[in-house]
Amino acid sequence: MVMESYSAEETFRLGEMTGGKLKPGTVICLDGDLGAGKTVFVKGVAKGLGVTDTVCSPTFTILQEYRDGRMPLYHFDVYRIEDPEEMYEIGFDDYLYGEGVCLIEWAKNVAELIPEGALKITITKDLDKGLSYRKITIE
Ligand SMILES: Nc1ncnc2c1ncn2[C@@H]1O[C@H](COP(=O)(O)OP(=O)(O)OP(=O)(O)O)[C@@H](O)[C@H]1O
Ligand SMILES: [Mg+2]
Repeated sequence: MVMESYSAEETFRLGEMTGGKLKPGTVICLDGDLGAGKTVFVKGVAKGLGVTDTVCSPTFTILQEYRDGRMPLYHFDVYRIEDPEEMYEIGFDDYLYGEGVCLIEWAKNVAELIPEGALKITITKDLDKGLSYRKITIE
């Protein structure tokens, strides 16, 4: 499925709608260039899950957990992971197969660890359609 967004707010709302429908155990991979809008989308998902804590980008921590929503939200950013083995150190599997939802920015860096059945969302810019245009592909 392909969706189009013309602003950060629109991407946030797409995330929020997605978050409202998520079931425990869902894994969502988010790929797309720096500044594509992956974190904006996650912030929307958090809102849709009823998270009220402020969502920060976990670029330096790899993982941020939010437990005050309808179910736990595990927000990963694996931009800095060079060897997927590093993910075992933080117990990645326990999160993937747990009762919360996992959103993983730069999931392609740990592609071999992603379970079958994960949702894959790719956000791409198209400068011909304006600076704030994003194509959001969900498969
Ligand atoms: N349609 C849009 N959707 C999402 N963000 C947009 C859009 N148009 C402009 N933006 C801007 O693009 C930026 C997206 O930043 P964001 O941190 O979400 O990107 P990211 O994909 O998480 O990047 P990174 O790989 O560095 O984590 C924000 O500054 C946001 O305001
Ligand atoms: Mg980000």
